[in-house]
Amino acid sequence: MSGFVEKPEPVEVPGLAHLHTGKVRDLYRNAAGDLIMVASDRMSAYDWVLPTEIPDKGRVLTQLSLWWFEQLADLAPHHVLSTDVPAGAPADWAGRTLVCKSLRMVPVECVARGYLAGSGLVEYRRSRTVCGLALPEGLTDGSELPAPIFTPATKAAVGDHDENVSYEEAARQVGADVAGQLRETTLALYGRARDIARERGLILADTKFEFGFDGQVLTLADEVLTPDSSRFWPADQWEPGRAQPSFDKQFVRDWLTSPAAAWDRTGELPPPALPQEIVERTRAKYIEAYERLTGISWS
Ligand SMILES: Nc1ncnc2c1ncn2[C@@H]1O[C@H](COP(=O)(O)OP(=O)(O)OP(=O)(O)O)[C@@H](O)[C@H]1O
Ligand SMILES: [Mg+2]
Repeated sequence: MSGFVEKPEPVEVPGLAHLHTGKVRDLYRNAAGDLIMVASDRMSAYDWVLPTEIPDKGRVLTQLSLWWFEQLADLAPHHVLSTDVPAGAPADWAGRTLVCKSLRMVPVECVARGYLAGSGLVEYRRSRTVCGLALPEGLTDGSELPAPIFTPATKAAVGDHDENVSYEEAARQVGADVAGQLRETTLALYGRARDIARERGLILADTKFEFGFDGQVLTLADEVLTPDSSRFWPADQWEPGRAQPSFDKQFVRDWLTSPAAAWDRTGELPPPALPQEIVERTRAKYIEAYERLTGISWS
């Protein structure tokens, strides 16, 4: 099971066509054909969109993504056209709206991993491989890999998990030429971001990019290097051999799995509302991530 306790009604804006409500973002198209991505304050954990929002999360993650797009611009062009709030849209869209070039999307989620976690760890334990790539013996939960790897996935239907595929399978789907470009660019972007994060005391364990074509030009799309698309770990708490604390979600996970929440995460019932203290501490973590990475004060 996964999903929303209750899917929010999209905000109606004259002149914008609502396309999609994702777990965290709402998507519209304007009259010019551009894509409008509006990040909400919704948060997901254990495959559920939580019934409690984290104030400012949408703005913090939008600003972080924008900052990263700029840090990476010499490695890949990006899809952001402006941050203007469309006429007639609610004022509270300010700071969490991106007007983007509508691209011909490449149907591969481009994941780079420098450390073993998540679905990579599951596959490694089964077969000593990740996406079919052989890895050395003796790695454990949270281990750094000998070198970062490109581990593509194909998009599953809404609500399902993306499926890891081999490089060869990705190349069959998009062509060898494009697959080569995806791998090279993904690893270059990851390397840059990992180094920036490391200087700021954060481990970028893995991250997911999406690309599309603007004519013939491979262009970075979606959101980039936010805690929603990446695993960030506090470097000073990194200790292979156990699950690493998540930079942003740990308070929420700890609370949801504590007796206080009285919730069974393997069951069918949605998670309960978060206590105010957990909301506050989690909000502070998103702001801390933004401030540490960018060096810019949030308020
Ligand atoms: N520049 C772009 N042009 C066209 N499509 C884009 C562009 N940037 C991102 N997208 C697409 O927009 C969609 C964003 O949707 P969103 O991430 O909110 O929901 P989702 O991926 O369906 O589900 P989830 O909530 O699990 O992420 C994705 O399908 C993404 O591939
Ligand atoms: Mg998405």
